Amino acid sequence: MSTSKSSTPSASPLDLVIFGGAGDLSVRKLLPALYMAHLHHNLPEKTRIHALGRQPWDRNAFLAFVQEKVSGFIDAKVRDDASWQGFLERLNYVCLDATQAADYAALAQAMQPGSERVVYLATAPSLFTGICANLAHASLIDANTRVVLEKPLGHDLASAQKINDEVGQYFQESQIFRIDHYLGKETVQNLMVLRFGNTIFEPLWRSPHIKSVQITVAESVGVGSRAGFYDGTGAMRDMVQNHLLQLLCIVAMEPPVSLDPDAVRDEKLKVLRSLRPMTVADVARDTVRGQYSAGASKDGSAPGYLQEDNVPPTSGTETFVALRAHINNWRWANVPIFLRTGKRMAERRSEIIIEFADLPFTIFTDSPRQSVNRLMIRLQPEEHVQLQMMAKEPGSGMRLRPVHLNLDLETAFVERRAEAYERLLMDVVKGRLTHFMRRDELEAAWTWVDPILEGWKTLNEKPKAYTAGTWGPAASSALMARENSAWVEEV
Ligand code: BG6
Repeated sequence: MSTSKSSTPSASPLDLVIFGGAGDLSVRKLLPALYMAHLHHNLPEKTRIHALGRQPWDRNAFLAFVQEKVSGFIDAKVRDDASWQGFLERLNYVCLDATQAADYAALAQAMQPGSERVVYLATAPSLFTGICANLAHASLIDANTRVVLEKPLGHDLASAQKINDEVGQYFQESQIFRIDHYLGKETVQNLMVLRFGNTIFEPLWRSPHIKSVQITVAESVGVGSRAGFYDGTGAMRDMVQNHLLQLLCIVAMEPPVSLDPDAVRDEKLKVLRSLRPMTVADVARDTVRGQYSAGASKDGSAPGYLQEDNVPPTSGTETFVALRAHINNWRWANVPIFLRTGKRMAERRSEIIIEFADLPFTIFTDSPRQSVNRLMIRLQPEEHVQLQMMAKEPGSGMRLRPVHLNLDLETAFVERRAEAYERLLMDVVKGRLTHFMRRDELEAAWTWVDPILEGWKTLNEKPKAYTAGTWGPAASSALMARENSAWVEEV
């Protein structure tokens, strides 16, 4: 798909409009991120932030709400009273029912003369079309208006296409910022530099030098209070379709010709389109669905998924997915790609492991350990890159032991590391689309995911139970073992 370049914003006043402005995402992520941007003088001088919601509040009531709820999500060590006051001055609240065209007059009135607008849709996608139509009707969309779409963008390909078609009636593709906050994480962006800013890995970054790739996004938390959303969604739609596939794209893509948004997104799209489609037999063999049962968490005992608030007692929703994927191209032919994500796992850990090929032949036949070279890219909770090499164990004999070349990014750089949402919001403000998903990428991801979801329906099996606080069902280890591999915590 060819799209025009990112819109280039000028130094005009900026009105940042948040639909769902008093909602969970706004409180936990968006307003804290905007405060940090304000604190570090990264917001354009004449920026006003308009939170929209149905609560019948005036501005003062909203400010009191922000004071009470949002400050808890800002590190107390960095908050400073003067800048906090300055931030509150930027805030406005408009009481608005997104479905009521008449309510938009108040919003239009709140806009600064001649401003550029960023509209953040942190609402259910079912409201997107109505919001866009009402914004257009109130003359709030022009060529410089940017719109940010929060996930979930659809529950399958057809619904994603519908959202894209509808929003596309009001905005050009170059004005649409589909956010995936994993693309805003420092280490994810750093992976592009690791791959394309260094020469040493590129010759090895391919079959047959790579034996397998593992991508894990493990969470220790359970579904919490989000069952209403999560039970109809599940781990495949909530995490794999977006975050894990985006990570895979960055690991697997060819070097783009530049950092131009379309140059990068063209390469990511090719990866998604090269994913080998799964048949029902593939789904049965190469995927594992799990659901946590009662167990442990770091705070003590943890309930099973079926005991969580608002989860139907017979729910078959998966809270864990492991699968083996293949990319049908020259670089990745015959390299199994293992993806895994789950809630209530042993720890919070997101990482990418590149396992290099086995030695063709070993002369260290007396060593109990054999050679394994791995590049380990840890996204969270710590941010580091480690290269596992083999070294000689001190003493007599020639025994091998793994050692790590360590790149600890948190100590290597003293600069502040912005949260993903802050970085991405600043990209929107500056009109930079590189780290946002293009329409065809989103749809290609669904095209690969849909047959897996369909396969699960056809197979009609209950998800496999795993105890909260573990690494998932035994079938997930078996999936790896079949390929003569193991998840990194099992080796
Ligand atoms: C969100 C999912 O997109 O990502 C949540 O909806 C998940 O279920 C969250 O908890 C994980 O994000 P992070 O940045 O904490 O790894």
